[in-house]
Amino acid sequence: MSDYPTNIAFGIDIGGSGIKGAPVDLLTGEFFAPRYRIATPQPATPQAVADTVAELVGHFNLDASIPIGIDFPAPIIHGVAPMIANLDKSWTGVDVRRLMRDRLGRSVTVVNDADAAGYAEVHYGAAEDRKGLVMVVTLGTGIGTVLVMNGTLIPNTELGHLEINGHDAESKAATSAFEREKLSYERWARRLQRYFSHVEMLFSPDVFIIGGGISKKADKFVPLLSTRAPIIPAELLNSAGIVGSALMAAQEDGAFDLTPEVRAQIRSNRDRIRAEARARSTSPLSEQPDLAYGIPAGETRADKAAAKKAEKAATKNAAKAAKKAAKAERKSSKDAKKATQRRVGKRD
Ligand code: BGC
Repeated sequence: MSDYPTNIAFGIDIGGSGIKGAPVDLLTGEFFAPRYRIATPQPATPQAVADTVAELVGHFNLDASIPIGIDFPAPIIHGVAPMIANLDKSWTGVDVRRLMRDRLGRSVTVVNDADAAGYAEVHYGAAEDRKGLVMVVTLGTGIGTVLVMNGTLIPNTELGHLEINGHDAESKAATSAFEREKLSYERWARRLQRYFSHVEMLFSPDVFIIGGGISKKADKFVPLLSTRAPIIPAELLNSAGIVGSALMAAQEDGAFDLTPEVRAQIRSNRDRIRAEARARSTSPLSEQPDLAYGIPAGETRADKAAAKKAEKAATKNAAKAAKKAAKAERKSSKDAKKATQRRVGKRD
């Protein structure tokens, strides 16, 4: 017997430092039970990681009918990882789907980590119901990219490995580079600008969503970027990979279908969840009606939230710039005064 009702699938996120999993309610995009995390074994070899995944699944009482989706930090082509950038190199060429199926004794769906996160943002998060081409860029140890056209995912884009100025883009612009090189947000933003301008020139998306842990601090660097398409922060943050892989597994199993009725149900659940989150928030800004920010009706809530954030950041930046300019002016008039005094002194 399973402990779970229908519309539940199980998602697992395999990362360099942690392997996390939770049952996901596919009608809300929320965890049905708290997430469980186990540190990624070191070295993170295929066998060791498969054992950890089995331990994680064993923590939950899942019957055989519950689909299991696993996301993995590499392109996944028919279950196989043809290359690996940020996990043990012994994963190169491994059939991850077969390895996990054999270890767990049940079938699983394996997908790229960014694809899972981006797919979740499209169906439950910042890009919910967006038409046109959505490009999700996850900034973390590497750069993951996702293209979703009118809700349909184009998998394994791997644009974090574009070569820009002779470098693998993620080696210079991922969050790991920002932290490793102790860059200021301004310097990092210059690198991100080069990256976003390049992918925008190549793909012309209608909107960019920034994912990865750093998207919580989007107000520190997004206002410094300039692209034709708006850039908005992800909504689901670190649950996105688990939610997206669970959804993809359920769809692949034929256990769940995103019919128009199901979509409408998800939409109304998400609206309720956001309203509850807003009500819990203590920020006076979040208590203002949306129109107070002059955002035209018809845009998504995520747009409005992003606009509010950007507005706040822009005000802060403007105040900082004004303070700097005033300081510079004071210094230059002081210098001019000193120079005059020196000239007068010399003449005397
Ligand atoms: C990998 C991608 C992955 C991204 C984020 C890149 O180095 O090649 O497959 O999506 O990092 O983890």
